[in-house]
Amino acid sequence: MPLFPLFVPSVLFVLSVLFPGPSQAETLDLGRAIYMQRCFWCHGETGHGDGPSAVGMFPRPRDFVAADYKIRSTPHGHLPTDEDLLRVISRGIPGTPMPAWVKILSQEEHHALVAYLKSLSPRFAAEKPQPLPVPDGPANPEAGKEVYRKARCFLCHGEAGRGDGELTATLNFEWGIPHSARDFTRGWTFKGGHEPHDIYLRITGGLNGTPMGPYADILTDQERWDLAHYVASLDLEPSATTEDFLVTAALIEGNLPETHDGPAWQKARMLTVPLAGQIVQSPPLRWWTPSAGACNVRALHNGHDIAFLVEWDDPTGKPEPLPDSAFLQFPAQEGSKPYFLFGDSDNPVKLWHWQAGNTAEEWTATGSANTEVRPAIFQVYPSYKEGRWRVLFRRSLSGEPSFEAGKFLPVLFSVRDGANGESGNVRATSTWLYVTVERPRSFRPWLLALAYMLGAGVVELWVLAKLKS
Ligand code: HEC
Ligand code: HEC
Repeated sequence: MPLFPLFVPSVLFVLSVLFPGPSQAETLDLGRAIYMQRCFWCHGETGHGDGPSAVGMFPRPRDFVAADYKIRSTPHGHLPTDEDLLRVISRGIPGTPMPAWVKILSQEEHHALVAYLKSLSPRFAAEKPQPLPVPDGPANPEAGKEVYRKARCFLCHGEAGRGDGELTATLNFEWGIPHSARDFTRGWTFKGGHEPHDIYLRITGGLNGTPMGPYADILTDQERWDLAHYVASLDLEPSATTEDFLVTAALIEGNLPETHDGPAWQKARMLTVPLAGQIVQSPPLRWWTPSAGACNVRALHNGHDIAFLVEWDDPTGKPEPLPDSAFLQFPAQEGSKPYFLFGDSDNPVKLWHWQAGNTAEEWTATGSANTEVRPAIFQVYPSYKEGRWRVLFRRSLSGEPSFEAGKFLPVLFSVRDGANGESGNVRATSTWLYVTVERPRSFRPWLLALAYMLGAGVVELWVLAKLKS
């Protein structure tokens, strides 16, 4: 009999006696120390999710004593596994204030935190969480689309998966807090990852403590697997985090479109512009939870006019209780780059402001408190369909600011969702980007090439004729 299988454990035993790892008590002490330094601000001293920074925060930081965890590989109502906790600490929860710690804390510190979080709830001593099996066979997203209808996911997540289902608005009120269903077209906003594997686990086990319930007993394993692939296929903006800051107005001939779906728009490159809540100025309010996480922007020009098409997801599109609105912001003075929130006293900005109900105004501002309103010098064509606003702004290329080929002009995009309580500086905003207009194509190089080819042909014929004679 080979001695190897006996040899390895005994060497490990000797090593562990000679170099003991941290004891359970040491691990917990380390975990508590990091917790008090990094986590208590939001999760609270005793772990009840009531830290000094948690005031007005939504979603609420997790209460580690109640231990109702959302992102698990385990069935509904169960505790998460150690791996689940390690992963969520490491990658954070996108779209919420919960940070990713992978670059800040070591692996040892991650493990110590997991031990400490578990010590905060007596449930961990009593229950043994078991991960759910995940299918790995083939999946059929088309069949998944049928399951989406049958299981009535659209009631909350909307027909096109944009989180605009008819129940979404009532979820807000019934629960007294905004519980918006996930927008499946924005993969990077998924809290627990947007690979089919992750989505399968969320559908099967639900998200504890939210209106998103478990479908383990309602749909078969294969149905949930197909559905997970269908949901994953709806992601429209995998490039949402690319660092691309240039809006190029493509040149077209003839009139600029007045609708958002004309074929001319195919000529313009669509840019995904990340938006974030305005959290710099308070009062009135820092805003952590804007409903728009990004907007899509395209631009066209025809040598006389320029058109911007700005699109963003908004789950309700209702005028109540406050109207939705959008801004395009430019520096008012050539060559300046003002403060991004409505400019500053030395650097005024011009704003094109549109508000649902068809208000269009031009604002000049030198800071949030200093705005002067004038009638619009641009036209605006808005439309709302299936959970998405599409607003077209059109103006002459000349004026203030003027758009010229080759020039890079700062531009900023901002939107408000009135149903989410957004107004004034409570809004989603981008940082400064740049816009440039495409140069008219010059035909000179082509004409020169043609003249050269014709000339060469004539000479060749003359030489041939000479040789023959
Ligand atoms: C700036 C605030 C903030 C800080 C700091 C913070 N968290 Fe969180 N955390 C949150 C919020 C908010 C949530 C809830 C998100 C949700 O429900 O979607 C959360 C959720 C969690 C969850 C729950 C995951 C689940 O499946 O439900 C864990 C675990 C967690 N945080 C661990 C930590 C640890 C460990 C630290 C410190 C290293 C930390 N957090 C620091 C805000 C914070
Ligand atoms: C009653 C409303 C409702 C129904 C019906 C519903 N969901 Fe949800 N769903 C939600 C809410 C609300 C959230 C967000 C919870 C949160 O952010 O904490 C959510 C979140 C999700 C997520 C989020 C994953 C993540 O990591 O962020 C997935 C996937 C999902 N739902 C899929 C589905 C599918 C598939 C169906 C149909 C079988 C469905 N949901 C039915 C309300 C619902």
